[in-house]
Amino acid sequence: MSGSTLLTGIGELVTNDPDRVAGDDTAGLLHDAAVVIAGERIAWVGPAASAPDADARVDVAGRAVLPGFVDSHAHLMFAGDRAAEFAARMAGTPYAAGGIRTTVAATRAATDEQLAANAGRLVTEMLRQGTTTVEIKSGYGLSVRDEARSLAIARQFTPETTFLGAHVVAPEYADDPAAYVDLVTGPMLEAAAPHARWIDAFCERGAFDVDQARAVLEAGAAAGLRGRLHASQLGPGAGVLLAAELGLAAVDHCTYLTDDDVHALRESGTVATLLPGVEFSTRQPYPDGRALLDAGVRVAIASDCNPGSCFTSSMPFAIALAVREMGLTPAEAVRAATLGGARALDRDDVGRVVPGARADLVLLDAPSHVHLAYRPGVPLVAGVWQAGRPVV
Ligand code: NIG
Ligand code: FE
Repeated sequence: MSGSTLLTGIGELVTNDPDRVAGDDTAGLLHDAAVVIAGERIAWVGPAASAPDADARVDVAGRAVLPGFVDSHAHLMFAGDRAAEFAARMAGTPYAAGGIRTTVAATRAATDEQLAANAGRLVTEMLRQGTTTVEIKSGYGLSVRDEARSLAIARQFTPETTFLGAHVVAPEYADDPAAYVDLVTGPMLEAAAPHARWIDAFCERGAFDVDQARAVLEAGAAAGLRGRLHASQLGPGAGVLLAAELGLAAVDHCTYLTDDDVHALRESGTVATLLPGVEFSTRQPYPDGRALLDAGVRVAIASDCNPGSCFTSSMPFAIALAVREMGLTPAEAVRAATLGGARALDRDDVGRVVPGARADLVLLDAPSHVHLAYRPGVPLVAGVWQAGRPVV
């Protein structure tokens, strides 16, 4: 195949190919495998012994290859950090969404160049850890100008941009939340929509109630944006049922779920995106990911990289936590971090190693995906291909 690369000597290949997933093998594993990359796409997948010829050949010497991670929830458009808030939290101060306003002030004061540099640094950090698709939210601007420029900059890094004007009520509207919702669903949405694919809201006590979240999501839908939602992070609430009712692609956090929530998620097919780094960094209880999978709910895991509740960009760390703290098997956690994220973003070109998919691959310096959870904190990512190009 011309312009093609044969990746061979793959000790273990995670495919997530529905035709290969069987019984206990939820990852569609292939051993002694090879992959042919042609241009931006995967052209062939199968046993190394029967691989076709290609222009170039890379032997990975028995190591494991996975689909690139799909991080479907990240807040990268911000300035400054909140290390002092984190230190205070570890000393006993509980997490509260109010800290978001600290980052809003820093973000508004930053130049476009500073915001782009910070986001770029984090996207590079993610790529080095195997993330080849990332969603980026606004939500620290909370004015027409600052939300629109956050999304315009985010668009330089990913097509998966999310308008989160409804993160918290902007400080100048503290006394009139209804007027802020009117701003978000009116002029702010109009300025943001050309730069966004998604709309999101933080449906939580202290942020937006379910009626306000519904108004935001419906206005977004009318402007051509698909919906996703933050819900049940700090306590149980009606946001998960709203997400299921509206058929959103994903509802994220899901830290406190009721039986009705779980039932509604299974019926709607809305992806429950678990963010274990948040529970780690806020000392909240981990949701029962095992129970969600057993109930037939679609599950993704994502980083939620943000300066407040969880400042890690690492999908390997999220995988390790999902295994240790949420009851997922390593294969289920890898699937949630790849195919699960793809579903949460309504993407069928990423999250799988199958012919025709985008050639987004991660090479581990390890013989199997299990090492991602077995060797937490160790930088195991030895190579990354994004759309067919070696980038790490
Ligand atoms: O997903 N939940 C709301 N938003 C972020 C936290 C933002 C912050 O604390 O700055 C989250 O956890
Ligand atoms: Fe978030």
